Amino acid sequence: MNYASELRRVYEACLPFVGEGKVADYIPELAGVDPSYFGLCLHEIGGATHSVGHANVPLSIQSISKVLTLAMVLPQNLDSFERVSVEPSGDPFNSLVQLEYESGIPRNPFINAGALVVTDMLIAREAQPKEAILEFVRALSGDSSIGFNLEVAESELATAHRNRALAHLMRGFGNLQADVERVLDVYCHHCALEMTLEQLVHAFAFLCRGGRSWGREVMPLRAVKRINALMLTCGFYDEAGEFAYRVGLPGKSGVGGGIITVLPGHFVLGAWSPGLNPKGNSKLGMRALEMFTDNTGLSLF
Ligand code: DON
Repeated sequence: MNYASELRRVYEACLPFVGEGKVADYIPELAGVDPSYFGLCLHEIGGATHSVGHANVPLSIQSISKVLTLAMVLPQNLDSFERVSVEPSGDPFNSLVQLEYESGIPRNPFINAGALVVTDMLIAREAQPKEAILEFVRALSGDSSIGFNLEVAESELATAHRNRALAHLMRGFGNLQADVERVLDVYCHHCALEMTLEQLVHAFAFLCRGGRSWGREVMPLRAVKRINALMLTCGFYDEAGEFAYRVGLPGKSGVGGGIITVLPGHFVLGAWSPGLNPKGNSKLGMRALEMFTDNTGLSLF
């Protein structure tokens, strides 16, 4: 497979749609992002990386970071991952409704409530959780320059009313141990990680390489299997079915307009376009990924 020419073919076919969708504005600092960014980047299991468009411009990875924090806590808790379920929610990423009637147990680790519990688990384990996250992500991507965008983190912290409500509700049910503001601070920082598509595809390579990153084991295969399964079933919230139907790969989106997908044993493929569809997932990103798997036949199915 000539990945470079397949990427270029998709990129060119998508160019007329650049700018479609609506840039997220509920985090004020994200509202000013240029909607005309568009990039694709694929990292092959063999080691080569292919890019087109804006694959080297940093983006706010937002919910894509939830996979990375999960990867930090899941391997040690594989047989006792009980504070978060592993079922699709069928609801938006920031919904409160299920949490009340399901007694403070979030449906999965990728909706905001579930990611807040994962962050709480990380805080219980790490004396300096934000530094630990940076260290983990820098090691995975092989790039020590990766950092948080502090303006984005502050901007979200100042307006995170729904996440505060979710965190307090879970604290009330006894499913959050650390102080709510502490959890929100760490959560808003990991969402504010800024990475290029190239850094992202390298960071996610362990999910393609059976848990290995740069030749070193990051986690056992059975943890990788579970994270990829969660990305397929829950990575796109109430659009997870649509994403599996159209693209057919495990993946994770963020409201910065980034999407990372994995075909285990083959490649990691990322797309970025800041315009979102009504479900909060990149509109052109989904279009491009669908075209790529349609054209190449390379999907799980
Ligand atoms: O908590 C939030 O609302 C954001 N920091 C992350 C949400 C997000 O990226 C949803 N994904 N598409």
